[in-house]
Amino acid sequence: MKHRMPVIIGIAGGTGSGKSTFTNRLKDEFKDQVTVIYHDNYYRAHDELPFEERKLLNYDHPDAFETELLLRHLELLKAGKTIECPTYDYSRHNRAKETMRIEPGRVILLEGILVLFDSRIRDLLDIKVFVDADADERILRRILRDTKERGRDVENIVDQYLTTVKPMHGLYVEPTRAFADIITNSGMNDVAFDLVRCKIREILKA
Ligand code: ADP
Ligand code: C5P
Ligand code: MG
Repeated sequence: MKHRMPVIIGIAGGTGSGKSTFTNRLKDEFKDQVTVIYHDNYYRAHDELPFEERKLLNYDHPDAFETELLLRHLELLKAGKTIECPTYDYSRHNRAKETMRIEPGRVILLEGILVLFDSRIRDLLDIKVFVDADADERILRRILRDTKERGRDVENIVDQYLTTVKPMHGLYVEPTRAFADIITNSGMNDVAFDLVRCKIREILKA
């Protein structure tokens, strides 16, 4: 059968806005019919630096990501090829040893704070979503999540938020809202989620 180009849906938004939750709900619904790529898995490896220095890096600037590798992988998936996706360990601030085999599919969800930033990535996206939430809600959610799931303490989260996360959000994440086709307030049963869900169902049926 002739290979059909996948539809790629970008899901962007600030830290703690609910991007991963939005993406995971779609994955739960469509299971293996959709492929998920987390931009966070493309954070650069920093084996050359000790933990104490990796901890202080700016992880909210576009250069923190290995965008060339992501672009190569997206092109491979578009060509119907399988990729070995890197994985990331937030608690060590470094890329993990394991890779994840990802098969090409009809629908790819690409999720991350900056997936709408680079024009080369944007050009590959068929639908662009920006998940929105107030900054106070986002930082509160991040504190709860990072202490539970990413091995962080509150002092460190607050310090990182003020020195890099917040200023980079203003410079690089927030402006990409302008590129979005759909802006959603990340509610659990919102209209935007239904629209994306219906669109995916339609693509899978076609
Ligand atoms: P992101 O990937 O955008 O940083 P997550 O999806 O990881 O955000 O959400 C951050 C935290 O906030 C998680 O613990 C998640 O359970 C919670 N969360 C996500 N969306 C909502 C929402 N609409 N209402 C309340 N809490 C939410
Ligand atoms: O899921 P979320 O969108 O919050 O993931 C992106 C965030 O992860 C960025 O805001 C970045 O500050 C954070 N991050 C981190 N430590 C790393 C890598 C990313 O705190 N080592
Ligand atoms: Mg996330």
